[in-house]
Amino acid sequence: MPDFVTNTLEAPDTPFDISLRPPMFSEFAGQEKVCERLEVMVQAAQGRGDVLDHVLLSGPPGLGKTTLAYILANAMGVSIKNTSGPTIEKAGDLAGLLTTLERGDVLFIDEIHRLQPTIEEYLYPAMEDFKLDIIIDQGPNARSVRLNLPKFTLIGATTRSGMISAPLRSRFGMASRLDYYVADELQKIIQRSARIINIDIDAQGALEIAARSRGTPRIANNLLRWVRDFAQVRANSVVNRDVADRALSMLDIDADGFDEMDKRILEALIHKFQGGPVGLNSLAVAIGEEAGTLEEVNEPYLIMQGYIKRTPQGRVALPPAYRKVGVDVPSKAGELF
Ligand SMILES: Nc1ncnc2c1ncn2[C@@H]1O[C@H](COP(=O)(O)OP(=O)(O)O)[C@@H](O)[C@H]1O
Ligand SMILES: [Mg+2]
Repeated sequence: MPDFVTNTLEAPDTPFDISLRPPMFSEFAGQEKVCERLEVMVQAAQGRGDVLDHVLLSGPPGLGKTTLAYILANAMGVSIKNTSGPTIEKAGDLAGLLTTLERGDVLFIDEIHRLQPTIEEYLYPAMEDFKLDIIIDQGPNARSVRLNLPKFTLIGATTRSGMISAPLRSRFGMASRLDYYVADELQKIIQRSARIINIDIDAQGALEIAARSRGTPRIANNLLRWVRDFAQVRANSVVNRDVADRALSMLDIDADGFDEMDKRILEALIHKFQGGPVGLNSLAVAIGEEAGTLEEVNEPYLIMQGYIKRTPQGRVALPPAYRKVGVDVPSKAGELF
């Protein structure tokens, strides 16, 4: 799969992403349970004239965490300040952000699992009591100053929920996990995006792209952009199923939308470990990826799609994985299910 589809998953939001971001719950497809909870929280806070409680959103990249943070701020009618874990290097950076907030404002910290432990310590009293104790000056002049903060909402987003420390997690009033989208939700997202960027696409064309988007709205939008270009040059700017299929085949995106990493995981599991069971760490080493990323970013999709299974002994390849890699399903595979 070409870079612009996969690399953009972890990359900063582009103007294209931003233009397609639904501004309110009614335009946000899927994730019903999460949205329902968040909408109740918003209504309750508004009814009391209160500030929204802190929210933690987790899940693989491209599923709508940043989008939901903006929707929440929008629904509350407050401003949002956007930052990310690794960019907050010093306590002063955090103080700088927190002291510019007004009552009710949202501070959005993306990749919150990458906050330094010392910064996290500063965050606890800020989240709990809206106070920030910082040390100013150095040496003999060093002294601690307590800043009173306005009551604010912290929205944290993470692709690695397992890396959030228990004390940090416990300070969020709500923690919700986003899941991969099913094809008809992605189809709706694609049809909405197509209207916004003015593409003539029929329902089958949208479904074809949806099925190859790896359950991920960001990928769906990126593929749509490519299909638009293809259609403009090769198909009079009209997208139907056949045009979508030709466009995506040209990118080597297979019918299941698998990316390089997905294929490598299945190949390693089957060729190097005879289909498993194999421990997460061994599998990660074999494909040159971090175990945590493998577990929280790549694996969930493969598990949801029924290609692999987590067992107490380790990861096991299921029959669709063998078919995908083009290997006969061994009889032993049957015994493990
Ligand atoms: N439920 C949704 N409905 C419509 N568009 C969505 C939805 N979720 C995500 N998107 C689109 O996908 C893109 C990626 O979403 P984003 O919120 O940046 O994901 P994350 O922060 O989880 O990586 C956004 O540009 C947005 O347009
Ligand atoms: Mg994001």
